[in-house]
Amino acid sequence: MRYNQLGKRMIVLTVLAMFAHGAASQSFAEDSASSGTADGKTVRVLVVYHSLSGNTERMANGVADGVKRVAGAVAIVKKIEAVKKEDLEAADGIVLGSPAYFANIAGKMKLAIDDWNWKLKVDFTDKVGGAFATGGGQTGGKEHVVVSLLLFMLNNRMIVAGPLYEDEEGKDIWGELGASAMTGPLDPGVGPHELDAARRLGERVAKIAKKMKSK
Ligand SMILES: Cc1cc2nc3c(=O)[nH]c(=O)nc-3n(C[C@H](O)[C@H](O)[C@H](O)COP(=O)(O)O)c2cc1C
Repeated sequence: MRYNQLGKRMIVLTVLAMFAHGAASQSFAEDSASSGTADGKTVRVLVVYHSLSGNTERMANGVADGVKRVAGAVAIVKKIEAVKKEDLEAADGIVLGSPAYFANIAGKMKLAIDDWNWKLKVDFTDKVGGAFATGGGQTGGKEHVVVSLLLFMLNNRMIVAGPLYEDEEGKDIWGELGASAMTGPLDPGVGPHELDAARRLGERVAKIAKKMKSK
């Protein structure tokens, strides 16, 4: 396929993907109104990510799908540069996702989240948090990125959570630190199990935020 044909096909696929996700709302007020849950009880989860080649964005949309499994919960998905102080303040839960850049949080994301505290002076107390990462390598630092994002949250007085798992009989149960996807040549893109982890993460954060809100 010629490069310009490939480019056109990519644009069409991107637009279709946006519509498949209902072209996520831009604010919680908009989303609550459209879901008919603007009653003060709506659980609002903000999913924030940085992504240049789309992998972390796919995971972010997976997290939002998981949030929507919880009755009364809504998700807003935003790129890091689009997040405003009011988004952060309105959120009951905040899930952050970053690609591993040299085994660490992408610089753009780190600068922004530092400012949330330092410049915007957001009070994150008792908001529920979760984290996810993508990385090209098998041991390229994805888990380190997840833990670093969780440390930011703990340091900012948030409550953090990861996805839950159980075996088919429900006998063996366990939790994980967050969600991640290996995206490099050995396992390109975001696979079904990785997307499942993202959904579980969104669901868990929304469930805990709902419990916190009902108190
Ligand atoms: C500047 C830069 C540094 C990277 N460093 C790492 C790394 O240390 N470990 C790793 O596993 N992948 C690394 N990668 C690969 C990305 O983490 C990976 O492709 C990721 O899925 C990209 O996310 P995106 O598609 O959402 O942009 C790096 C990519 C870039 C652009």
